[in-house]
Amino acid sequence: MRNSVSRYAVLGSPVAHSKSPRIHAAFAAETNQQLDYTAVEVTGENFNAFAKDFFAKGGAGLNITVPHKEKAFKISNSCSERAMLAKAVNTLLLDKDKRIYGDNTDGIGLLRDLQNNHELSINNKNILILGAGGAVRGVLATLALEDVSSITIANRTIAKAELLCEEFSAYAEVMATGYDELGLTKFDLIINGTSMGLSGETPALSQSVLADQCCCYDMMYGNEETAFVKWAKNNGANQAVDGLGMLVEQAAEAFYLWREVRPDTAAVIAELRTLG
Ligand code: ATR
Repeated sequence: MRNSVSRYAVLGSPVAHSKSPRIHAAFAAETNQQLDYTAVEVTGENFNAFAKDFFAKGGAGLNITVPHKEKAFKISNSCSERAMLAKAVNTLLLDKDKRIYGDNTDGIGLLRDLQNNHELSINNKNILILGAGGAVRGVLATLALEDVSSITIANRTIAKAELLCEEFSAYAEVMATGYDELGLTKFDLIINGTSMGLSGETPALSQSVLADQCCCYDMMYGNEETAFVKWAKNNGANQAVDGLGMLVEQAAEAFYLWREVRPDTAAVIAELRTLG
């Protein structure tokens, strides 16, 4: 017997706070799609078995969140170029041969939020990325494949920034630095990809890194203004934006991969912004 409602889930740990079920329910209602989407707490040791079993039992697609994106990449039988470059996957589906296909929609989510929701092109821009962990790795490929002027990765542990620099410098001018070595260079777009916001902190940056018209973008979001958004406003950034739009846009791209329908994101972003 065929189940008429397609099953989707987000796997992570912790995942109880995830907004993804609400976002995908809103997309489904808006596009008249019948689907079921739940959040499932899965530990690292259970991840591979759970994901494979989900598809074996007829599941249609998975989103993968922290800390399983690298594992999801490894269980993918094939993947997109952007996932291959990131070595991390946030969306899984079955290809036409029923094999697991992985993609990473985080970078395109960031790009769409910048371009469509904040009218900000990254072409010819000098970009500073703060942090060199998983969140940054996930978006770097998409940014590097655009027509940017340069990407500077600043991180507390410079060796990690240098590693990303080596991996991605074939695609764009990418540099690695520590926060103290940023010097007098000015940036058009500064993206916070550190996890410091979780403890209400931001990297110690001088105001002088902000170019005229600089946009500061925090990949984090919360009901309260994030620490980096506060820093940006206090230091005169032209735009200070959190990552709620990126969250919804990466979900929209996953929804499109699964359903071949592109949902409208504006109403969903507005609702999350209002209701939290
Ligand atoms: P995520 O998956 O959220 O990216 P991660 O891979 O652990 O998590 O990366 C966290 C990032 O935040 C790293 O760039 C980390 O810097 P290090 O590579 O030097 O550890 C950065 N970070 C976290 N806490 C920090 C702090 N107190 N000061 C500076 N950077 C910090």
